Amino acid sequence: MDAKTGRAPVIIGTGSAWPERAVSNLDLQNIVDTSDEWITRRTGIRQRFIARADQNEETSDLAASASLAALEMAGKTPADLDMIILGTVTGDKPFPACACLVQDKIKAKKAAAFDISAGCSGFIYSLSMAQNLIKAGQCNTVLVIGVDRISVMLDWKDRANCVLFGDGAGAVVVAAGEGPEKILSTHIRSDGACWDMLYGEYGAPYVHPSLEPLQPKPFHVVMEGNRVFKKAVSSMASLSHEALKANNLTGEDIALLIPHQANMRIITALAERVNVDMDRVYTNIDRFGNTSSGSIPIALDEAHRKGVIQKGDHVLLVTFGAGPTWGASVISWGI
Ligand code: ACO
Repeated sequence: MDAKTGRAPVIIGTGSAWPERAVSNLDLQNIVDTSDEWITRRTGIRQRFIARADQNEETSDLAASASLAALEMAGKTPADLDMIILGTVTGDKPFPACACLVQDKIKAKKAAAFDISAGCSGFIYSLSMAQNLIKAGQCNTVLVIGVDRISVMLDWKDRANCVLFGDGAGAVVVAAGEGPEKILSTHIRSDGACWDMLYGEYGAPYVHPSLEPLQPKPFHVVMEGNRVFKKAVSSMASLSHEALKANNLTGEDIALLIPHQANMRIITALAERVNVDMDRVYTNIDRFGNTSSGSIPIALDEAHRKGVIQKGDHVLLVTFGAGPTWGASVISWGI
């Protein structure tokens, strides 16, 4: 609760959506030189969902479906929304913001809408903004979305990257409340000095060869996997400790840790450092792969709908992504 305004940010609804088409590790063996055994052993991923634009599975379509599910659970209509904040690096178009396309699709006429670019940390960054807008009294009801259709920016000839990711969206509705069950605090960080460990490179626009002899490659992801691995574990662990300490909690007090679903080995290393047993860690990486900004809100929605989290439980969300950016949120669960 904000000491001056007395307003607490509470998650009152969750939703998620993903494409129809599941692509297994065996399917990928037909596309690149890889194996189910390599992918499963190194990452824990067994399948992922890959969108099709001709099936109305653009980024904004997935985001709109997840949003409507979250609004339904919250007992709110799109007309109730003051703000839509959407974390993504794969909006349908370079501009306008994907949040504006979602606003149109769900008919949230009163809301202001904008995107946040923070790689896989897009959802936690967006949640941080929503939390503070509500505490400050500027908004009453905010839709927070994490979504990526990362398949459109992968080089499907690059086996080191294309096997890791999948498409999907998650959303939460955050509203002003007064009780003890609320988002306790959200912490965000970035370190642009090592931006080059993970980035997306622009795709090739058509420029006549006489004007641009150095024709660029199609859009693709560049990643130094080992460097990302180490930075992800150390950054998420230290920010988790900071977030827990800020709320006078330890890992023992956490009913459920929901980490970014990037790699099962990163998740187990993090859980050990934060002192949370694996039976209190939610994972769905085997079915979804790394859905970037969609990862945490999809897992949160699943965990809530399955009854894995109960009202009053302490939940720790923690993420790491391109930037690099990272973030952690401690929630006293309120639904
Ligand atoms: N199939 C088969 N072999 C492969 C594949 C593949 N898909 N990809 C790479 N290899 C080979 C490599 O060529 C290499 O072969 P070599 O030994 O003959 O040179 C070998 O496997 C080992 O490669 P490494 O890169 O050393 O494997 P590593 O154990 O580090 O695993 C991985 C790579 C999975 C990318 C790991 O570093 C990782 O998960 N890093 C974190 C990155 C991440 O999760 N990024 C997501 C975005 S950021 C985020 O969300 C946190």
